[in-house]
Amino acid sequence: MKPLLQVEKVEFSYPRSPYRMRIEEFTCNPGQTVAIVGPSGCGKTTFLNLIAGILQPEQGRIEVDGVELNSLRPTRSAAFRLSRMGLIFQEFELVEHLSVGDNILLPLHLGLRNDRASLESTAKQLAEKMGIERYWSILPASLSHGERQRAAICRALSTSPTLVLADEPTGNLDSSNKHRTVRLMIDSARKNQQALVVATHDVELLDSFDRVIHFEDLNQSREPTCP
Ligand SMILES: Nc1ncnc2c1ncn2[C@@H]1O[C@H](COP(=O)(O)OP(=O)(O)OP(=O)(O)O)[C@@H](O)[C@H]1O
Ligand SMILES: [Mg+2]
Repeated sequence: MKPLLQVEKVEFSYPRSPYRMRIEEFTCNPGQTVAIVGPSGCGKTTFLNLIAGILQPEQGRIEVDGVELNSLRPTRSAAFRLSRMGLIFQEFELVEHLSVGDNILLPLHLGLRNDRASLESTAKQLAEKMGIERYWSILPASLSHGERQRAAICRALSTSPTLVLADEPTGNLDSSNKHRTVRLMIDSARKNQQALVVATHDVELLDSFDRVIHFEDLNQSREPTCP
């Protein structure tokens, strides 16, 4: 089976930062679920942003479903991200002046999807499963942290993406919501043959994933070492 996500010989650093990342190889197959763990500051968010094409590597290749995002013009890579990837950001990145429902339907509003009816119905079902359907018409400001996080998860999954990247998606959830959320993401990955990559600190959840990767083992740069 050809991996859905292929990372090869990637090197990355931030300007004016001592942090270095060097990844020889990382792959994820369709339907496969991977948890990435590691101490704060070791590079989990940076790695997810590289895979999403939000950051560009200095060296190496990152291919999603046969497409090297780095080789596309920024508007094409943004369109690819919007239509094929579901991103759950560590800080949620909800649009504060849009209702929860409109946040979840953002890919539709951005005009890059024409399957309005099916997207709307998937989004509403997800909101129900995640227990936030009653907030559909209100602004995110009145939601708790955990509810905002659940809205961000609904937004990422509602487009039925090929690749889901989730950065600490359960960081603000109570134990029962945590398990419910991870189960939903994993079931969605298996059912829709999505590749799922989750950065997490939550050891309670690791048994649910097909693979658990310690980021310090993946990052071969030892300059500086992870904290
Ligand atoms: N925009 C930036 N500019 C410069 N350095 C950065 C930037 N973002 C992150 N870094 C540095 O890159 C390293 C990796 O940060 P990153 O946010 O990827 O870690 P993380 O594993 O996601 O941490 P956490 O578990 O706290 O979310 C850190 O040393 C951080 O200081
Ligand atoms: Mg992070």
